[in-house]
Amino acid sequence: MGYIKSAALEETGYVVLDRYNQELDPQEWLDLEYVDWKSSGDTRFAPLASKDGEIECGGFWSGKTPRTDKDGIWIPSQVEKAPNLVRRAQEPGANVGRCRIIELQPNTYADCLYNLHQDDNNRLNPDGTGWVVRGFFNLTDDKDSFFVLRDNRTDPSVEYRIALPAGAQLIVDTQRLWHAATHPGKDPRYCLITSWTSGPELDAYIEKYNGRTHVPNYEVSQEILEAGQAEQTRRLAARAAALAARGQADQTVMSEA
Ligand SMILES: [Fe+2]
Repeated sequence: MGYIKSAALEETGYVVLDRYNQELDPQEWLDLEYVDWKSSGDTRFAPLASKDGEIECGGFWSGKTPRTDKDGIWIPSQVEKAPNLVRRAQEPGANVGRCRIIELQPNTYADCLYNLHQDDNNRLNPDGTGWVVRGFFNLTDDKDSFFVLRDNRTDPSVEYRIALPAGAQLIVDTQRLWHAATHPGKDPRYCLITSWTSGPELDAYIEKYNGRTHVPNYEVSQEILEAGQAEQTRRLAARAAALAARGQADQTVMSEA
């Protein structure tokens, strides 16, 4: 039967929506409660909706009532601090799974390439229902930062680099595309990440905000690209060797960012 997916994401696996006027909203993310949860770099997360309605970041498929990344439970103590963020997450009208703010400490392009991962959004997702994808709304004005998306983790021939100024909005099939953020600078980056179920509601939202399947790549010098790729190769080989020495297989699929 297969899953219900958005035609808009079929070609590249992502769409970039019109930019949101972030300056109009208060900086609600600063007042939220964060938990340490390392994922794709030095990170913390502030959940707004989680599997059990608690301030934690566990996978929806674990513990009691295991399920795919759908039917997230809103956390009242967080929701009351961030009404605009909740409004934006709910605007598409699509089912919301996890919804949370990521706080990412500064890193480099090489770090980002090492951090590239695929999410596990659709574990336990019943066949014939909507495929879970994720929305990324950049909150801080990270003019020198960009999201990196690849078809293949170690192959730079298909690499999309999406700029991350305040108000940047993209939707990504994060189970299909390898992804992570490059965030140079001094201050942490904050981004609202929401799991949405694909379907007519999400399609209408993408159309309303002019979802684009191709945008110009954020420009990075060839020197940095090549050095980053070489460093990714070196670090992945070092990790594989360390895991092999312990008799473990490499774990390349993560679920929490
Ligand atoms: Fe992720």
